Amino acid sequence: MTTPSSNPPGSVPRHIAIIMDGNGRWARSKGLERLSGHERGAEAVRDCVKGCRELGVEYLTLYAFSTENWQRPKSEVMGLMALLERFVTKELAELNAQGVRVEAIGHITDLPESTQKALRHAIETTAQNNKLTLVLALSYSSRVEIVDAIQEIAREVQAGKLDPSAIDAELLSRHLYTRAYPDPDLLIRTSGEMRLSNFLLWQLSYTEFYITPTLWPDFRKEELLQAVRDFGKRQRRFGGI
Ligand code: FPP
Repeated sequence: MTTPSSNPPGSVPRHIAIIMDGNGRWARSKGLERLSGHERGAEAVRDCVKGCRELGVEYLTLYAFSTENWQRPKSEVMGLMALLERFVTKELAELNAQGVRVEAIGHITDLPESTQKALRHAIETTAQNNKLTLVLALSYSSRVEIVDAIQEIAREVQAGKLDPSAIDAELLSRHLYTRAYPDPDLLIRTSGEMRLSNFLLWQLSYTEFYITPTLWPDFRKEELLQAVRDFGKRQRRFGGI
């Protein structure tokens, strides 16, 4: 959980979270299959990782697959899983060379076995890297994350290890999947939608938003820089004056 602090002008966010939206619309506008949009979206991911690495961003969390996304047609879901598997396999050497540590949040065991295997391999191979932590939110639901945390806390109370009066916001944060990361400083959402879609509801309490009409497959380093410049002009008050 981020300790409230001021935002010196021109500062770079320590943690950027992105809702990568608009792959389907991008594909439709080009008369292509939805999966082509996701494939182009993977290129945007590559570009953004590089951009974050160059800017000195420490954490990048990407909403790659929500719990709700399981409701999509099986062909799209399986195509996305295969794409993810290809990405973490093919990009591994490059991610490693850039000092990127790959991590994942969400119910990873819901993913197909081969996707899990490729992901675990990428996580293990990059575990010692320390330039940028790339967190992939997969089969992720913020409400489920909060419920999971509450269940864990309840079990500790039941076992007599925790007094209910010791439960506070800090303690809840320490039971979330994101316990090892600071809260995001900047949230980017592409395709112009104005909603959080069950993403990091707790962690985004004091985060600055950058919403752009650009569809995710067209989002490139230049616009990332624009978002970061925009962030550098914001005055964060964390509820103070
Ligand atoms: C939302 O666009 C996007 C997703 C549900 C998937 C995001 C996945 C990628 C960008 C693929 C690669 C990811 C990684 C980490 C390699 P949408 O399909 O809902 O778009 P629409 O609202 O226009 O239909």
